[in-house]
Amino acid sequence: MAILVTGCAGFIGSHLTEKLLLSGEQVVGIDMLTPYYPVERKRKNLEILRKHQSFRFVEGNLNQMDIASLLNNITVIYHLAGQPGVRLSWGKDFDEYVDHNIRATQRLLEAVKNISLQKLVYASSSSVYGNVDRDILTETDVPTPFSPYGVTKLAGEHLVNSYRANFGVPVTSLRFFTVFGPRQRPDMAFQRVVEALINGNEFVVYGDGTQVRDFTYVEDIVNGCIAAANRGRAGEVYNLGGTNLASLNDALNLLQEIAGKKLNIKYIEKQSGDVSKTRANISKAQSDLQYQPHISLAEGLKRQFLYQSSLTK
Ligand code: NAD
Ligand code: UGA
Repeated sequence: MAILVTGCAGFIGSHLTEKLLLSGEQVVGIDMLTPYYPVERKRKNLEILRKHQSFRFVEGNLNQMDIASLLNNITVIYHLAGQPGVRLSWGKDFDEYVDHNIRATQRLLEAVKNISLQKLVYASSSSVYGNVDRDILTETDVPTPFSPYGVTKLAGEHLVNSYRANFGVPVTSLRFFTVFGPRQRPDMAFQRVVEALINGNEFVVYGDGTQVRDFTYVEDIVNGCIAAANRGRAGEVYNLGGTNLASLNDALNLLQEIAGKKLNIKYIEKQSGDVSKTRANISKAQSDLQYQPHISLAEGLKRQFLYQSSLTK
């Protein structure tokens, strides 16, 4: 029996794979190492995973590879491969979002539609909700994505559900809310803030910094993924938030306190696709998955700061 993780070399996928390996699972990991950010970072993540004998890495593009040949003995699939990033999904780059978030998901589903699985967990996003004037985001809200990225992640949810309805593929979708922690992607805010604090560079805030996010520590997301594989109801979608509600400005203050340094901040215009606020209603995940995020923003930021600092030594 083994587990398949797509996107295993990425930020969240590498943490999930590591946790599965540490708990004694056999894991097959797929990743094509897209050049969205330096591939060297993904290779470093893989080095950590390759220390485990029960890990098998298959480098390949879900849109081209023979997926079926990798499915022998696979009971659970975590589908995290995708093209992330809200603000870059406009213009000609949209093709990448369609290819990696929609086409790749469809191709995976075609490969699994006739096999017996315990669960396929699909990594969706808070960005499916859009820029709405609601205090809290609940799974029953009608999604109205505000960015092309969000549109492709929502298309992925619809795709997995249509394969569940027609072929009985046992899918559960998870909407992750702005994930942070060690190995965070270099296009994301905290990774850049910490880098700026370490190197004395400028950090550019998009907008006035009052945008609010339900920041979620990566370890809590990983635990939520595993709980969804074990306890998630097929055909259902669950919010995975961190209950760490803060504005970007609040987070910048916390990081300056942690670093004991002042950050060089420049404010520029808000970026297209960016929403004003996210806040997850996690009651469904709490009751069905027994999901309970436990890492506070201050603790998580401290861990991320220490991790990034250790890389520069
Ligand atoms: P990431 O870019 O670090 O990881 C994604 C990985 O998928 C990359 O290593 C990439 O090379 C791989 N990949 C992409 N397309 C592929 C393909 N066609 N075939 C094989 N491999 C492919 O991103 P991440 O932040 O770890 O995000 C993981 C997933 O979670 C994504 O689906 C993303 O949309 C979703 N998500 C992330 C966040 C967040 O805050 N990081 C929030 C919501 C949802
Ligand atoms: C994050 C991920 O990047 C998406 O892949 C994911 O789908 C999304 O969370 C989600 O929750 O669904 P985002 O909330 O934009 O997207 O997270 P960050 O990239 O960390 O940005 C947080 C805030 O900081 C945003 O308002 C952004 O505009 C701002 N920011 C980011 C800056 O002001 N400057 C930067 O250099 C980077």
